[in-house]
Amino acid sequence: MRFAESGIAASVALGSNLNEAALEVGVHIPKVCGIGICGACRVQLVSGSVNMMHNGGISDEEIAKGYVLSCCSEVTGDLEVEC
Ligand code: FES
Repeated sequence: MRFAESGIAASVALGSNLNEAALEVGVHIPKVCGIGICGACRVQLVSGSVNMMHNGGISDEEIAKGYVLSCCSEVTGDLEVEC
């Protein structure tokens, strides 16, 4: 995975939680509820995709624009995140 703004790139295991994997490589993405409700952990993907299981903390419009909730998204392959 790669973080566009910070320039950090790292290999993480498939199935890793996006928010936790980011923190492990030094990228802190704010998180409040941790279960996909509040939207605080929303980030935009530049490329790639994730498996997201949310509880209403993101709109269909935001998803269409490439946003995901990092607290409830699993890494499924190469991806670049805008943060
Ligand atoms: S921290 Fe609340 S939706 Fe992710």
